[in-house]
Formats: sequence, structure tokens, C-alpha cells
Amino acid sequence: MECLVEIKRSEVMTFSHLTCSSQLLSWWGGVQMGPPDPILGVTEAFKRDTNPKKMNLGVGAYRDDQGKPFVLSCVRKAEAMIAAKQLDKEYLPIGGLGEFTKACAQLAFGGDNEVLKSGRSITVQTISGTGSLRIGANFLSRFHGGPHDVYLPKPSWGNHTPIFRDAGMQLKAYRYYDPSTCGFDFKGALEDISKIPEKSVILLHACAHNPTGVDPRPEQWKEIADIVKKRNLLVFFDMAYQGFASGDIDRDAWAVRYFIEQGHNIVLSQSFAKNMGLYGERVGGFTIVCNDGDEAKRVESQLKILIRPIYSNPPMNGARIATTILNTADLRSLWLEEVHGMANRIIKMREQLVAGLKKEGSSQNWQHVIDQIGMFCFTGLKPEQVERLTKEFSVYMTKDGRISMAGVSSGNVGYLAQAIHAVTK
Ligand code: LMR
Repeated sequence: MECLVEIKRSEVMTFSHLTCSSQLLSWWGGVQMGPPDPILGVTEAFKRDTNPKKMNLGVGAYRDDQGKPFVLSCVRKAEAMIAAKQLDKEYLPIGGLGEFTKACAQLAFGGDNEVLKSGRSITVQTISGTGSLRIGANFLSRFHGGPHDVYLPKPSWGNHTPIFRDAGMQLKAYRYYDPSTCGFDFKGALEDISKIPEKSVILLHACAHNPTGVDPRPEQWKEIADIVKKRNLLVFFDMAYQGFASGDIDRDAWAVRYFIEQGHNIVLSQSFAKNMGLYGERVGGFTIVCNDGDEAKRVESQLKILIRPIYSNPPMNGARIATTILNTADLRSLWLEEVHGMANRIIKMREQLVAGLKKEGSSQNWQHVIDQIGMFCFTGLKPEQVERLTKEFSVYMTKDGRISMAGVSSGNVGYLAQAIHAVTK
């Protein structure tokens, strides 16, 4: 039998899967093995490790002081309230649960914000923060009239790049983190932002920058907002950690609110994975601030057209939980306390880790571990040190030296200090 196979994409095809026997050709024989995800792949490796002392400091997922996944009491209470109502399971509208999208935007902007009062923004419910960013990226790719370049801080969350790239946008970067100080490179950021071509897109982390834990101070945000205005850039805020930076949801939304006050018609991604611990519920929001209500209506219609062929309409359970918490006074105050509690536990762990390193005899300056905020600490550990931590101590983290402080507890902080000291002395 003769094999007539035309291979155009020779770079991804190999001949090993082609046979001339009576066996059918394999459709996917040319698919090459891809690398594990840089963040979620760390959890897979962690799960395979049998060392009882192992620590997963890879993914940013909050743990309590016993190292256990934490379900907030306000969530448990909201779930009970929802269950008692015996609600139906009809499809949600394409843009999600109306009460949820309203509460979600209020949480970001503040309830009395002019944007909300004048009805010149549109919020759709999304599949958590990632889904929100992707809907946003798709919208930009289809409708943004300026250059299709998105400027990310260097470094940024690992998933930002594939999200925007897969949506057809081009990735560029501006300086953000200064390895020599383990802090914010304010001068570098301003210099780079001032050279971004007009009407490009700039992505800003609203608070608790991932992966560095380094945020601009309010006066620095003001200068950034000025330059961004001068360059006429479209601002895409990613706010995945509202409440986790300072323990206060309003304080953490300061930059977003300030940019709006200054006249920036921003787009915004929100996630309830971290601040409500609703990781697997996949609940988030995507908002576009428009010039007026009419523009917002047209934008909404196009967002719906975008969403419908991707997942039709979003899941309801997480949105119901978040709405119940946000709209029920006593659950809301309980939630605010719990957010505060989570943020504080992380701050304590930062202090204990540094104290532990000193106790081990480390002479290095670890002040940045305390100064950085939010869930992550960008340790400054080099790839070979990270590798040793994993191989010799079963401490799992991303290769860039980021550790999720949320995975550190009173029980394992001493072990972590020992391990870090051993690979850095
Ligand atoms: C992280 O950075 O660890 C989190 O945002 C989780 C994720 O999806 O990457």
C-alpha cells in the first residue's frame, strides 16, 4: 500500500506516527509533549513527593495556620442561606447574575462612584480572574482601535503572557522590579511608560503585585496616572487580590478609584478566588468604563456576543455565594474581618520567617520579605537555589524564586527558614 501524506508543518510533525500497515493513522502522533504549567505544574510535582515535611509554596492559595485549605465562615453561612432558599438551576444570562455584577463593580469602585451612578460602565460575570482577563483580551483584540500591544510589568503573573498572546495581542514590557533593592523600580517604570506608543494598552496590578509583592505608593501611583494620561494609554487593571495587600478592601482599591477620578476609562478584571477563598467556584468580573451609558450598552452587546460562543453563560454557584456575602450586612462584616485575618496571618509569617533566618545565623538582608505585601514574596533566590530547595528539602515554589506566603504556617516556618538558610549561606 502506498502512503501519500503531505506534511506542511514539518516543524511540529514527526514521521514516527505514520505507518503503511492496515492500522489507521494516528491523528495526534505529531503533537509534542508540552512543559508543565510554571505555577500549577509545581502542585503536580508536590503531590508526587512522599516526604512528610514537603511544602507547597507554588500556587497562591490561602492555607490556615494548620496548613489546611481555608473555607471562610461567611462562605459557609452564605451557602446555608442559599441552600435554604431551594433556588432553581436555570441558565444565568450571558453576562451573569445581575445582582452579582452590580455588587462586584461597587466593591471595586465604591458604591457612590460617579461611574456607577451615571451607568457608564458595564460589568460581566466571568470565570474568575483568568476568564476575566481572557474576555478582556479578546475584546481588545476585536475592538481596540490603537496598537494591539499590551505592556506588562517586568515581571508579571506568568499567565498574563499566554492569555493576551492567545487572544491575538502582542506582548511588551515596562520595568517594574529592581532586583538590587527587591523593591519597585519607580524611575525605570516611569522612563519606560513615558516611551510607550500612544493608545497602547498598559496592564497594571491594582494591588499585591504578583509575583513580586511590590506595589507603588499612592504618590507614585499619582505620577504613573499622569504619565499614562500624557501617553493616552488604555489602562487594564488586574485586581485579583483586593483585600490581601492591606487587609482592607477599600484601601486596596485606591489606585483603581484614583485612575477613574483622573478621567481614565479603565478596563478591570476582578477575582473572588483569593479574597473570598472561592478558588474552585471560578467567580470574577470584567468591567469596561465607557464615556456614557449609550456606549456602555453597545459595549455590553459585544461582550455578550464574545462570551456566548465560548461558554454560553457563567456558572451560578460562586456568584450566588459572593452576592449573598456582599449584600447581607452581617455576612459582609464577617467577610471583612476574615479578609483582615488572612492578610494578618501572612504578615506574621513574613516576620517569623525573617526571625527564623536570623536564628539560623543568616547574615543576609531579608527585610524585603517583610516589606513586600500580599500573598507572595519574591525572595531573590536564584534558580539553582530554588532547585536545591525542592530536591533537598521538598520545598516547592516557582522557578523565579516566588514563594506563596499563604502556604507558610507556624508549624513549618522554622523548617522553611532552615532550608532557605542552607541554600543561601
Ligand atoms: C498564582 O499566581 O499562583 C495564582 O494566581 C494562581 C494561578 O492561577 O496561577
